Amino acid sequence: MSIQSIVGHLRGPTKSISYQWVKRPMLLIRQWCWTKLLRRDRIEFLAKNTARADQAVMEQPLTAAYLESNTRVLPYLIANGLKPNDRFLDYGCAFLRTGLYVIPHLEDGLYCGADISMGRIERGARMLEEHGISRDRYSVVVIEDSKFRPLQNLKFDWIFSNSVIHFMDDDELSRCLATFNAILSKGGQVHVTFPRQEQDALLTAKGQFPRTAERLISLAANAGFRTTLDTYKGSNFGDHHIAVMTR
Ligand SMILES: C[S@@+](CC[C@H](N)C(=O)[O-])C[C@H]1O[C@@H](n2cnc3c(N)ncnc32)[C@H](O)[C@@H]1O
Repeated sequence: MSIQSIVGHLRGPTKSISYQWVKRPMLLIRQWCWTKLLRRDRIEFLAKNTARADQAVMEQPLTAAYLESNTRVLPYLIANGLKPNDRFLDYGCAFLRTGLYVIPHLEDGLYCGADISMGRIERGARMLEEHGISRDRYSVVVIEDSKFRPLQNLKFDWIFSNSVIHFMDDDELSRCLATFNAILSKGGQVHVTFPRQEQDALLTAKGQFPRTAERLISLAANAGFRTTLDTYKGSNFGDHHIAVMTR
């Protein structure tokens, strides 16, 4: 066995020795104590864990390249029927980079960003302000746990979620999809992207939950949705999968 292959093994699929052997095991131990010993909600754990990093996140530079990598999102949404008077939920909005393109297309107040990370949302709000989009033109909610309470009294014509559902295990995603069904207007649609299969090993190594299209369709059916699969043309990074759910 060569030195190179030993180092490759130590770095693991995430290509980081410190992540593979220190950060990830520590996180898993804390998560295990939280979910198994204390029997608390895993999304609540992630939300609290994310909040610990908020200070660093607030300082994060959002480069022009990062923001411009999302320019195709609005053409995709419009091609699929997004209208200026649609109520739009961007689930897992992170730094609101979809909002940058979608908010100006919508009537004021109709875009809502949701994420477990308040830090990311706040950093995104600062970025939007710098682009002339003031805070009163959209709303945001912070997801605290898998009860999804902040969404419950809201209604949307569109629910869009890019690169988020693999952060949830099947149980959490089932509850999330049931919430989507409850808050979706009549005739509304849900578009969720999901990773390509070749990313499975990396995502699993990071503690995420890649799943097959069949599994996703089955979870969506249990939540009351009919699903069609498509190729997502809204990313500048190449084609991804997207599931389009309707009642
Ligand atoms: C890869 S980023 C997605 C970025 C964003 N959708 C975009 O296209 O720019 C994943 C985001 O999902 C958020 N997230 C992870 N688990 C979540 C959950 N259960 N509910 C809501 N957001 C979650 C993370 O905090 C992170 O901001």
